[in-house]
Amino acid sequence: MIRQGFVASMMVALGLGLGVTGTAMAGDASRGERISTTCVACHGPGGVSQIPSMYPSLAGRDAEELARLLTEFREGERQEPQMSPQAQGLSDQDIEDLAAYFAAQEPE
Ligand code: HEC
Repeated sequence: MIRQGFVASMMVALGLGLGVTGTAMAGDASRGERISTTCVACHGPGGVSQIPSMYPSLAGRDAEELARLLTEFREGERQEPQMSPQAQGLSDQDIEDLAAYFAAQEPE
Protein backbone atom coordinates (compact mmCIF):
# COMPACT_ATOMS: atom_id res chain seq x y z
CA MET A 1 0.00 0.00 0.00
CA ILE A 2 2.73 2.43 0.94
CA ARG A 3 4.61 1.53 -2.20
CA GLN A 4 1.52 2.03 -4.37
CA GLY A 5 0.95 5.42 -2.81
CA PHE A 6 4.54 6.36 -3.52
CA VAL A 7 4.28 5.31 -7.14
CA ALA A 8 1.05 7.26 -7.53
CA SER A 9 2.54 10.42 -6.06
CA MET A 10 5.60 10.06 -8.27
CA MET A 11 3.33 9.86 -11.29
CA VAL A 12 1.48 12.95 -10.17
CA ALA A 13 4.77 14.78 -9.59
CA LEU A 14 6.02 13.72 -13.02
CA GLY A 15 2.77 14.77 -14.66
CA LEU A 16 2.87 18.17 -12.99
CA GLY A 17 6.52 18.56 -13.88
CA LEU A 18 5.84 17.86 -17.53
CA GLY A 19 2.83 20.16 -17.48
CA VAL A 20 4.89 23.04 -16.13
CA THR A 21 7.69 22.39 -18.60
CA GLY A 22 5.16 22.22 -21.43
CA THR A 23 3.64 25.62 -20.79
CA ALA A 24 6.93 27.34 -20.00
CA MET A 25 8.76 25.76 -22.93
CA ALA A 26 10.07 28.15 -25.55
CA GLY A 27 10.44 27.14 -29.16
CA ASP A 28 12.96 24.50 -30.13
CA ALA A 29 15.27 26.29 -32.57
CA SER A 30 16.90 23.14 -33.91
CA ARG A 31 13.54 21.65 -34.80
CA GLY A 32 12.63 25.05 -36.26
CA GLU A 33 15.66 24.88 -38.49
CA ARG A 34 14.65 21.44 -39.77
CA ILE A 35 11.17 22.61 -40.77
CA SER A 36 12.34 25.98 -42.15
CA THR A 37 13.49 24.65 -45.52
CA THR A 38 10.39 25.89 -47.34
CA CYS A 39 10.57 29.29 -45.63
CA VAL A 40 14.14 30.04 -46.66
CA ALA A 41 13.25 29.59 -50.32
CA CYS A 42 11.53 32.97 -50.09
CA HIS A 43 12.89 34.53 -46.90
CA GLY A 44 16.53 33.72 -47.65
CA PRO A 45 19.12 31.51 -45.95
CA GLY A 46 18.71 31.75 -42.18
CA GLY A 47 15.88 34.21 -42.81
CA VAL A 48 18.21 36.86 -44.25
CA SER A 49 16.23 38.00 -47.25
CA GLN A 50 17.93 38.35 -50.62
CA ILE A 51 15.00 40.48 -51.85
CA PRO A 52 13.85 42.37 -48.73
CA SER A 53 11.48 44.58 -50.72
CA MET A 54 9.43 41.48 -51.54
CA TYR A 55 10.23 38.99 -48.77
CA PRO A 56 10.75 40.48 -45.30
CA SER A 57 13.85 39.35 -43.42
CA LEU A 58 13.11 37.16 -40.41
CA ALA A 59 16.63 36.79 -38.98
CA GLY A 60 17.26 38.20 -35.53
CA ARG A 61 13.72 39.43 -35.00
CA ASP A 62 11.78 39.07 -31.79
CA ALA A 63 10.51 35.50 -31.47
CA GLU A 64 7.20 36.57 -29.97
CA GLU A 65 6.59 38.99 -32.81
CA LEU A 66 7.41 36.35 -35.43
CA ALA A 67 5.08 33.88 -33.72
CA ARG A 68 2.31 36.48 -33.59
CA LEU A 69 2.73 37.32 -37.30
CA LEU A 70 2.66 33.64 -38.27
CA THR A 71 -0.45 33.09 -36.19
CA GLU A 72 -2.13 36.04 -37.91
CA PHE A 73 -1.43 34.48 -41.31
CA ARG A 74 -2.60 31.08 -40.13
CA GLU A 75 -5.85 32.45 -38.72
CA GLY A 76 -6.46 34.57 -41.82
CA GLU A 77 -6.30 37.84 -39.86
CA ARG A 78 -3.58 38.79 -42.29
CA GLN A 79 -3.68 37.55 -45.85
CA GLU A 80 -1.16 37.55 -48.63
CA PRO A 81 -1.27 35.18 -51.62
CA GLN A 82 2.27 33.84 -51.20
CA MET A 83 2.55 33.75 -47.43
CA SER A 84 -0.92 32.71 -46.30
CA PRO A 85 -0.70 29.15 -47.68
CA GLN A 86 2.68 28.69 -45.95
CA ALA A 87 1.16 29.28 -42.53
CA GLN A 88 -1.95 27.15 -43.01
CA GLY A 89 -0.46 23.81 -42.04
CA LEU A 90 1.59 25.01 -39.05
CA SER A 91 0.84 23.78 -35.53
CA ASP A 92 1.39 26.02 -32.49
CA GLN A 93 4.58 24.10 -31.84
CA ASP A 94 5.78 24.59 -35.43
CA ILE A 95 5.22 28.33 -35.05
CA GLU A 96 7.11 28.49 -31.73
CA ASP A 97 10.00 26.47 -33.16
CA LEU A 98 10.25 28.48 -36.38
CA ALA A 99 10.09 31.75 -34.43
CA ALA A 100 12.86 30.56 -32.08
CA TYR A 101 15.03 29.52 -35.01
CA PHE A 102 14.71 32.75 -37.00
CA ALA A 103 15.06 34.92 -33.89
CA ALA A 104 18.39 33.22 -33.16
CA GLN A 105 19.87 33.94 -36.61
CA GLU A 106 22.29 36.77 -37.36
CA PRO A 107 20.44 39.54 -39.24
CA GLU A 108 23.25 39.93 -41.81
C1 HEC B 1 6.37 31.59 -51.51
C2 HEC B 1 7.21 32.51 -50.74
C3 HEC B 1 7.13 32.41 -49.21
C4 HEC B 1 7.37 31.30 -48.44
C5 HEC B 1 7.72 29.89 -48.89
C6 HEC B 1 7.26 31.74 -47.06
N1 HEC B 1 6.96 33.07 -47.00
FE1 HEC B 1 6.76 34.19 -45.31
N2 HEC B 1 6.26 35.81 -46.44
C7 HEC B 1 6.24 35.85 -47.82
C8 HEC B 1 5.81 37.15 -48.24
C9 HEC B 1 5.64 37.63 -49.70
C10 HEC B 1 5.59 37.92 -47.07
C11 HEC B 1 5.11 39.36 -46.96
C12 HEC B 1 3.62 39.32 -46.85
C13 HEC B 1 3.01 40.69 -46.74
O1 HEC B 1 3.60 41.65 -47.21
O2 HEC B 1 1.92 40.76 -46.17
C14 HEC B 1 5.87 37.02 -45.95
C15 HEC B 1 5.77 37.40 -44.63
C16 HEC B 1 6.16 36.62 -43.56
C17 HEC B 1 6.18 37.05 -42.18
C18 HEC B 1 5.77 38.42 -41.68
C19 HEC B 1 6.97 39.32 -41.72
C20 HEC B 1 6.63 40.75 -41.43
O3 HEC B 1 7.58 41.54 -41.26
O4 HEC B 1 5.45 41.13 -41.40
C21 HEC B 1 6.64 36.01 -41.44
C22 HEC B 1 6.85 35.97 -39.94
C23 HEC B 1 6.90 34.91 -42.36
N3 HEC B 1 6.61 35.32 -43.63
C24 HEC B 1 7.39 33.69 -41.98
C25 HEC B 1 7.51 32.59 -42.84
C26 HEC B 1 7.82 31.25 -42.41
C27 HEC B 1 8.15 30.85 -40.98
C28 HEC B 1 7.79 30.46 -43.51
C29 HEC B 1 7.96 28.95 -43.58
C30 HEC B 1 6.98 28.19 -42.88
C31 HEC B 1 7.49 31.33 -44.65
N4 HEC B 1 7.31 32.61 -44.20
C32 HEC B 1 7.42 30.90 -45.95
C33 HEC B 1 6.56 34.81 -48.68
C34 HEC B 1 6.86 33.52 -48.29
